Amino acid sequence: MENVKDSRKLFGHELSPKADIEAIKEKLLSAYADEWIAGYYYMLTAEIIQGPNSGVIAEEFRKEAVEEITKHASEIAKRLNELGVDPPRDFTKLWSISSCKYPPIPDDPFDIDGFIIAAVKAEICAINAYKELFDLTHGVDPATEELAEDLLRDEVRHRTEMTNLLSKEGLARLVKELSGQH
Ligand SMILES: [Fe+2]
Ligand SMILES: [Fe+2]
Repeated sequence: MENVKDSRKLFGHELSPKADIEAIKEKLLSAYADEWIAGYYYMLTAEIIQGPNSGVIAEEFRKEAVEEITKHASEIAKRLNELGVDPPRDFTKLWSISSCKYPPIPDDPFDIDGFIIAAVKAEICAINAYKELFDLTHGVDPATEELAEDLLRDEVRHRTEMTNLLSKEGLARLVKELSGQH
């Protein structure tokens, strides 16, 4: 008798034979982990930042955290399900399979620009990941390709919204840090 794993060969027949289904599943799983980790750090940021503007900025972080988890991670889990894959049952595995992880956050809760800079870097990593997923699926896996496009657009919006929260000095700091990375 075939076991459940064998029956999962039935999943994914909507893909072209040229599609690298294992690479697509792996990329979806790492993006799923990235979304949970970003959501966690956005919530953490909202809870710990301090200073005169912290209330407004915390609300922005909470709003984006909700979108990362309830839209992005959820949509990715649905697509994985369609491909016969469950997200990890072991929560600690999320960190190990995440390709973005999360940039270091400041020790000083008043360094709000530092927290925003970490978030912008996380969004840039997410944009790169969805661009890679798009390239991997383009023309061979339309369902995942469309998801990658949708999430890529959201992350570009997040990057812009986060960047707009920076002070003038914070923006200069971000530009300097990003140019040092390349
Ligand atoms: Fe996201
Ligand atoms: Fe995002």
